Order: sequence, then structure tokens, then C-alpha cells
Amino acid sequence: MEHIHPIFDQILSRSAKETALKQKAAVFWLTGLSGSGKSTIAKAIEKELHEMGYFTKLLDGDNIRTGLCKDLSFSESDRKENIRRIAEVSKLFVEGGIICICSFVSPTESIRDMAKEIIGEEDFKLVYINASLETCEERDVKGLYKKARAGEIKSFTGIDSPFETPLTPFYELKTDRKDIETCKNELMTAVLAEIKG
Ligand code: ADX
Repeated sequence: MEHIHPIFDQILSRSAKETALKQKAAVFWLTGLSGSGKSTIAKAIEKELHEMGYFTKLLDGDNIRTGLCKDLSFSESDRKENIRRIAEVSKLFVEGGIICICSFVSPTESIRDMAKEIIGEEDFKLVYINASLETCEERDVKGLYKKARAGEIKSFTGIDSPFETPLTPFYELKTDRKDIETCKNELMTAVLAEIKG
């Protein structure tokens, strides 16, 4: 990196920001199939944290893909680039003392490991939003599974593109066994234990 002069050592520290915000920053990274409930849980968690006075930022696949990552497809290499950018952005938020909630399919162990490496193991809390493919397909909230089965969408996660089960998540929620309120409350308890300033 020629002619680049970073000023990392000159900017206000993360701990100064965390003290001001009365919280410990971290990234809660929700992974799971499309339709597993990631966005619903992410929104519910963010709302409750906000009401409790925490300062948060929610990053969501469908939103990010209309802006920062709108040039990317769902090929393996583009998904990797998608997650790389999001992980770098999350890291910036964490350095600013902000609690980041990320909701992305992030389908493979290697993609999630890359996010963990960029963000840092200490700050990366992987949450597996687990609902079976059958359940997600039955819900088909956005009608995408139907299109994928009809061959109108290629490389759709769970259909003709893989989703690897996370092996060592920080937390797992089985959204096809418990209702959303119960899932949200369970995750809130785990989240609060990490972010109390
Ligand atoms: S990721 O694989 O790169 O992590 P991301 O979370 O950004 O995916 O985007 C997933 C969202 O894009 C899904 O919730 C769905 O609405 C939409 N989508 C469109 N095409 C696909 C596809 N081929 N595979 C998965 N999701 C898709």
C-alpha cells in the first residue's frame, strides 16, 4: 500500500466512545436461510435495545444490496465480496462504540470465518437463525423459493447453492420450534450479557 498514511493512532479511542455511550460494542451476526427469520429477529432486537437506551446499527442483506453492494450478484465470489464489505463496515461501527446487528445469509463457514477475521474474534458473535429448508420454503415470504424451484432464480441458497450449518455459533435460535417473541427474548438475554457498559 504505497502512499497511504493511516492515522489509526490519532483518532479518538473506541473505549472513549463506549464510555460516552455506556455500552460495550460488538457485532451480532445473524446467519441463516432466506425466510429463516433473521430480519424479523434483528429488527425486534434493535427496537428493544434502542428502547433501553443502547446505540445500535442494523445492517440487512436486502438493504445493503440496494446500495453499498448493488453491483454484486449471488455467485460465490460476489457473496464473499458482499460479506467482506459488510464486515469492514461493521468493524468501523464497532470502533465507534456502536452495537452492530448484521442480518445476512452468509452461507458458508469460510465466508463467516472471513467476517470473524475482519471484525476480530472477540467482537464477532455469530447467531444461527435455524429454520429448516422445508419451513422456509413453506413460509416463502418473498415468493423467492417458488421462483428458484421454477428455475427463474439461479444459485438460490438452499436450492441450488449451499448453506453450511454453523459449527460453533455464539447462539442458536430454532425459529421453527419457538415463536418469535420467545426467540427474541432468549437472544436479548444473551446480547445484554455482552454489551453492558
Ligand atoms: S449473502 O449470501 O451474500 O449473504 P444476502 O444476505 O446479502 O446474501 O442477501 C440475501 C437476500 O437476497 C435474501 O434474503 C433474498 O431476499 C435475496 N436473494 C435474491 N437472490 C438470492 C439468491 N440467489 N440466494 C439467496 N438470496 C437471494
